[in-house]
Amino acid sequence: MDKQNLIKGAKAVLNSNFNEDKGFTIPCEGLYPFQWHWDSGFIAIGYAHYDMEKAKREIESLLSGQWNNGFIPHIVFHNHSDTYFPGPDYHRSDLHPAAPKDIKTTGITQPPVLGFVLKEIYEIAQDKTEILEFIKRNIDKVYKNHQYFYTHRDPYNEGLVYIYHNWESGTDNSPIWDEIWQTMDPPKYKYERKDTTHVDASQRPTNSEYDCYLHLLEIAKAHNYSDKKIAELSPFLVQDPLFNAILIKSTEALIELYEIISGHSEKIESLKNWLEKAKKRFEEKLFDIHSNSYVYYDLRNQKHIVHTTSSSFTPLFAGIPNQERANQLVKQLETVFGSDNLFLCASFDPTSKHYSPMKYWRGPIWINLNWLIYKGLKRYGYFDLARRIKAETINFIEKHGFYEYFDARKQKFETAAYGGNNFSWSAALILDLIKE
Ligand code: DGY
Repeated sequence: MDKQNLIKGAKAVLNSNFNEDKGFTIPCEGLYPFQWHWDSGFIAIGYAHYDMEKAKREIESLLSGQWNNGFIPHIVFHNHSDTYFPGPDYHRSDLHPAAPKDIKTTGITQPPVLGFVLKEIYEIAQDKTEILEFIKRNIDKVYKNHQYFYTHRDPYNEGLVYIYHNWESGTDNSPIWDEIWQTMDPPKYKYERKDTTHVDASQRPTNSEYDCYLHLLEIAKAHNYSDKKIAELSPFLVQDPLFNAILIKSTEALIELYEIISGHSEKIESLKNWLEKAKKRFEEKLFDIHSNSYVYYDLRNQKHIVHTTSSSFTPLFAGIPNQERANQLVKQLETVFGSDNLFLCASFDPTSKHYSPMKYWRGPIWINLNWLIYKGLKRYGYFDLARRIKAETINFIEKHGFYEYFDARKQKFETAAYGGNNFSWSAALILDLIKE
């Protein structure tokens, strides 16, 4: 596919996944038929390159699902669909008093991308005055979301927030969570999986993993999604480097945007305090000197989960490490994840016995993680490696189309595309990479 056809194809995917009536984009037909939080953020960046009105609608429709306490859910159910489980009647956001009355959502969140997405869109926009009007209308809602995190998701006041569900991480079935599943003994729930009717089951999480996922939701629902109770009781309570790096990057972006808008000194001060504390604690707590990478902290069981994943490299995107530590990290990226027989960047350590190159977040390459790592590499001046990851990312899409995830093994390139096809963020982020 040449560049013009790639751009045309990407726009066609986004436009066909856009729900004109409700103003949002599904991640993928059948498999993900509602509005997903971090998908929408990445999707808005793609629209910003050719249809700013859609970019704005995408963000505003997501924010229409925000709760009164600042929480932004991982799915907003604007529409009806029978092709996904668990849907709105399972999640029951109405149990929480702060949830909107007129729209159903989930009671879990996803990596808080909106802060940096607003900044990306500002950079892309030709008409800065006009886009600033949009940002002014929405930025306080995103600020309130950050306030929610530092008020309700940081019980030891460390500057690092926890997630209480693997779906909050975005990296749903990463081997990282396996140790936590072993601490749980969920009932065998009766339910009908829908995802495996759209995608080969060998590329999706197992049923026993799904039992754990549902059990975490059952515990939260039994306590009406009370943050306090969840922090006390959830068997899953993790400080995730991807989630916290994204929150940090978004905090930095909100500061930059408020400074452009001017006149918000109190908010800027709070954001700066959160930022400084978060970066410091991230460095102290999440860097593991043995594996030379950022790892996870299991707050419930008070221990690190020491594996390297593609998330381990996202602190570069947020400007967290100093140059020396960045060098160590990039060496790891280049030699272990980017060795001769691999494309960048597998979602899980390819030398580990848990690496599974065709299974969702247990090994395959994801376009959004590659995008974050690409931006991070550029931030620290690793231009050659940045060019490599960009070229390899585009190459997958050129060869196979806009799939959800890809096999990192070079010898599998001919058949490397997995998961859903016509996947929105793959299209949106390719547009951004090409247009850059
Ligand atoms: C799923 O259903 O697989 C989603 O990733 C949950 O957000």
